[in-house]
Amino acid sequence: MNSVRVVGLGPGEKAYILPAAIEAIQKADILIGAQRHLDAFSEYGKQTFCIAHRFEQMIGFIKEKANKQNIAVVVSGDTGFYSLLRYLKSNLPDQEFDVIPGISSITLMFARLGFMYDDAFTTSMHGKELDVARIVREYKKVGLLTDGKATPAAIAQKLESAGVKGKLMAIGERLSYADEKISKLTPEQAKKYEADLLSVVVIYDEDIRV
Ligand SMILES: C[S@@+](CC[C@H](N)C(=O)[O-])C[C@H]1O[C@@H](n2cnc3c(N)ncnc32)[C@H](O)[C@@H]1O
Repeated sequence: MNSVRVVGLGPGEKAYILPAAIEAIQKADILIGAQRHLDAFSEYGKQTFCIAHRFEQMIGFIKEKANKQNIAVVVSGDTGFYSLLRYLKSNLPDQEFDVIPGISSITLMFARLGFMYDDAFTTSMHGKELDVARIVREYKKVGLLTDGKATPAAIAQKLESAGVKGKLMAIGERLSYADEKISKLTPEQAKKYEADLLSVVVIYDEDIRV
């Protein structure tokens, strides 16, 4: 059985993709991923499977094809940070995987701010009810993946309602792309801010330097 490659594509722009990831994509017969990612590699003319929430079909497709063809599943950011890797390994217990990491959107955001993240709390807001106010009181830096419900504005509103003081919110939109935007706002400003759907947030003590 061929190993299925799971390939981290970084935040989006090709300059932030590892050469090893490009090589894995070039060698693959079939690319599986979100449409945004498949489109980025259309020049290679590979057979593709667009996931579009069809997770069970994707598992069936991999079971059917992995014996005969080389499959690369492409995921955004890093493979080890809220990627499909967990789902793939749970649902394909007998399958071998070869994992090629990428730069996480959170890693890039901390770099943009010039901050370390080894002392930060990082998580994803996707489909979770998180007590953000409690977490930001506990940690000097908190990095969050956002989604259409837990937007930067909704997070800011929670902080304000809980009376959190002395924090700034950095919002990173469309990181690595030409129209990337980084905004450093107070929660009061951020609660009115309409961010792009592709955003991460870092909430930090206003006096930290690194
Ligand atoms: C399913 S998670 C995948 C996270 C990914 N594994 C990583 O390491 O960045 C998708 C979330 O990542 C964040 N994200 C991914 N690419 C981004 C980018 N270019 N700019 C800002 N946020 C991004 C957004 O919060 C998005 O909702």
